Amino acid sequence: MTESNGKTALITGSTDGVGRVVAKRLAGSGWRVLVHGRDRERGEALVAEIKAAGGAAEFLSADLSSMAEVRRLADAAQKAPRRLDLLINNAGLGSGASRTTRRTSADGHELLFAVNYLAGFLLTHLLLPLVKKSTPARIVNVSSLGQQAIDFDDVMLTHGYSGSRAYCQSKLAQILFTIDLAHELAGSGVTVNTLHPATYMNTTMVRQSGVTPISSVEDGAEAILKLAVSPELDGKSGLYFNGQREARADAQAYDADARRRLKALSLQLTDLSTPSSSAARS
Ligand SMILES: NC(=O)c1ccc[n+]([C@@H]2O[C@H](COP(=O)([O-])OP(=O)(O)OC[C@H]3O[C@@H](n4cnc5c(N)ncnc54)[C@H](OP(=O)(O)O)[C@@H]3O)[C@@H](O)[C@H]2O)c1
Repeated sequence: MTESNGKTALITGSTDGVGRVVAKRLAGSGWRVLVHGRDRERGEALVAEIKAAGGAAEFLSADLSSMAEVRRLADAAQKAPRRLDLLINNAGLGSGASRTTRRTSADGHELLFAVNYLAGFLLTHLLLPLVKKSTPARIVNVSSLGQQAIDFDDVMLTHGYSGSRAYCQSKLAQILFTIDLAHELAGSGVTVNTLHPATYMNTTMVRQSGVTPISSVEDGAEAILKLAVSPELDGKSGLYFNGQREARADAQAYDADARRRLKALSLQLTDLSTPSSSAARS
């Protein structure tokens, strides 16, 4: 039996790829792990593997291309023991499956923007009250080196769509969100940082895009775990890392006006901007 450290972590997209490795590593060091993904069979198999090794885990399924499912996931994650010390927004879609064809989410938003960014934005806001009660707590947003400035005149990419543009825009949106949220959370005991885990890891997403992997999921997991648990990051917030090193993201991440516009749009798209609409649902 692995000795519990009394802490809980939710890792989205931990049924596969780098998230799966992170979930196993955290469980192995005493964390209770909430494993998330769409594929129940792979989710339950990972939970069984973690339990067989003496750890604690639970599987929560949700398709992040639906905001109703994101809300259901948030509800499920708030069940006993009612603490969340670590949230890793890792789930993501690569450009491979939507290389040339623009697809939309259940709510009608461009699919990669919805799954890679908007779902994490909504999930984080819904879980923040619990995270704030579990301080010191951390949020990690798994972004990418692939970044492209958001065109606020056509965020949903109705013109000039490409899968690569959609992926890079969604990944930069996560970085703008991280910097913005870090300002909001200053002094709360919750820190939030973001990173490019590693380049072309040997994962489903990379294989689907037809690229030959050049790094391992262990490399990426190491970088994510540094932001998640390393004492080096105590009290540090709003930072972007390339692997293990602090780095500079695309210039738009440091544009306060762009961050303000993205936040306003995101609150509106997720229906979080009107307190009455959120209250009516809860
Ligand atoms: N691979 C790389 O080289 C690389 C480089 C830079 C950044 N990243 C980032 O690292 C993160 C993890 O990527 P990976 O390479 O490990 O990918 P992966 O092996 O393809 O795994 C993706 C994970 O996300 C989940 N997911 C995908 N779409 C989902 C949806 N609609 N709803 C719920 N879950 C969904 C998948 O769950 P299912 O079991 O349901 O499929 C899976 O667990 C991503 O955010 C990616 O952008 C990866």
